[in-house]
Amino acid sequence: EILNEINKLGDKYGESDVNENKIALIDYSSPNIAKPMGVGHLRSTIIGQALANIYHKTGFSVIKDNHLGDWGTQFGKLIYAYQKWGDKEKISKNPIKELNDLYVKFNKEAEKNPELDEKAREFFQKLERGDKRLVNLWREFSKLSVKEFNKIYKKLGVDFDIYIGESYFSSEADKEVKEALKKGIARKDSATGAVIVDSLDVPSFLLQKQDGSTLYITRDLAALRFRVKTFKPDVILYVVGQEQTLNFRQLFELSKALDILDKVQAKHTGFGLVLAGEEKMSTRKGTLIELKELISQSVAKSKKILLEKNPDINKKELKEISEIIGVGAIIYNDLRQSRSKNISFNWERMLNFEGGSAVYLQYTYARINSILKKVKSTQLKKTSNIIFEKDIEFLIAKKLMFYSIIINNAQKFDFPHLIATYLEELAQIFNSFYNNVSIIETKDKNLRQSRLILIKSVAQVIKNGLELLNIKVAERI
Ligand code: ARG
Repeated sequence: EILNEINKLGDKYGESDVNENKIALIDYSSPNIAKPMGVGHLRSTIIGQALANIYHKTGFSVIKDNHLGDWGTQFGKLIYAYQKWGDKEKISKNPIKELNDLYVKFNKEAEKNPELDEKAREFFQKLERGDKRLVNLWREFSKLSVKEFNKIYKKLGVDFDIYIGESYFSSEADKEVKEALKKGIARKDSATGAVIVDSLDVPSFLLQKQDGSTLYITRDLAALRFRVKTFKPDVILYVVGQEQTLNFRQLFELSKALDILDKVQAKHTGFGLVLAGEEKMSTRKGTLIELKELISQSVAKSKKILLEKNPDINKKELKEISEIIGVGAIIYNDLRQSRSKNISFNWERMLNFEGGSAVYLQYTYARINSILKKVKSTQLKKTSNIIFEKDIEFLIAKKLMFYSIIINNAQKFDFPHLIATYLEELAQIFNSFYNNVSIIETKDKNLRQSRLILIKSVAQVIKNGLELLNIKVAERI
C-alpha cells in the first residue's frame, strides 16, 4: 500500500492538511543593509526557508517575511561617513564592500574623536524626521544592498513574499511608546528622559532613547502589531540567533502586556553560532567569511571532486551539478543537526560521499536513478502483487511509511534536522540493501519488479525530503 501511494502521489507524497486553514508568518534572513550578508544571516536564511517549506507541506499558508535591518543609529554613522569620505564611483562599482568600509572607518575615527558619534546621532535624528536629502541617500543604500542580497537568495533558491524592513515601522514605533506609557507599562526616566520598561517579569529595557529615537525592540513591537492586524496569523516565527533570546523574551512579554498576542503564538526559533575553529566568526578578527565567497568555495570544491570521479563529464553538466552539490553542501551542513547547536565549515565532512552530507543523499538518489534508467518504464508502473524476499526490503518499506510523521514532527518542533536524520537513515538501509543484492539481475520477474518499485520509492522520498530542506537533486552524479 505504501509503495502504491508513493508512486501515485510522487512529488506530493508527504503532504498533509493537519494545519489546514492556519496561517504562519515566518521572519527570516533579515540581514542588515549596507553590510555584507555574513554567515550568521546565512543560518537564518537556510533554517527559515526550510521551515517555510515544511510548514507549507503540513497545510499552513505561509507568509515569508524579510525584516531587513534598514534603520537605526548606524545609518547616521554611515551617512556621515559617506558625506565625509564617500566616493560615488567606487560605491556604484562595489556597493556593499565600500559602504561597509565607510562604516568601519567611521568607527575607527570615532574611537579617536568621540564627537563623531554625536554627529551621527544628529544625522539619524534628521533621517527619522524625514530629511529629504538624507532619506534619498538612505534609500539608495538600501536599494543597492537588496540587489546584492537577491543574488545570494537566487543561488540558494530562497524567496520571500514580503520585504518590510525596520524603517517601515519607525513612525508606528513612536505610537507604541505613547501607548506603553499610557497603559503604565513603560515610564519616562526622570533623570534622562528616556523611556524604560521595568514593570514586567523580564530584565528592564529601553523603549526610547533619551534623544527621542526608537530602538530595535520598539520597531519590532510595531512590526508585531502590524503583522497581527494585517495577516491574522496563528503563529509567528522569529528565526534569529540565540544571542537575541533575551530581546525576544522582552518583546513577547511587552506585547502580551499590550494585548497584542492574545490570539497569536509568537516563537523565537533560535539557533547556535557559526564557528571558525573553536571561536565565533567575527569581522573584527577577520574570520568572518562572506556568504558569496563561501558559496563559490563550495562550488569550486564540488567541481574538483566531480572531475576526479568522472573525468569526461561535459562542461555544462559539470557546472550544473557542481552548483547543486556545492549549494546543497552548505545548506545541509546547517540542517543536519539540531539548530541550537553551533556549526562550522568542515569541507571534508560537507562533501563526503559516504555519509553525513547532502551529496551522500544526492549520490544515493542518482544511483537509484541510474538503475531505473536501465529498465523499461512499463515495469515501474504495475504496483500490484508486490513480493519481498528479504527482511531488509520490509525494513525499507516500513521506513518509507514514517516519512509523513517525520514532516509533522519537524513542523511541530521547528526542527528541520529531523528530516535530514531520517533521510540519512533511509539512505543507509537502502545502500546496505543495494550493496548486497543485484536488483537488475533478480531472476524472479515479480520480485525484480517489486524491488524496482521499492527503490523508486526510496528515490522519490529522498527527492521530496531534500526539496523540503531546499536542496536539489541531480539526475546523475
Ligand atoms: N536584522 C536583525 C539582525 O541582524 C535581525 C532581525 C530579525 N527579525 C526581527 N523581527 N527582529 O540582528
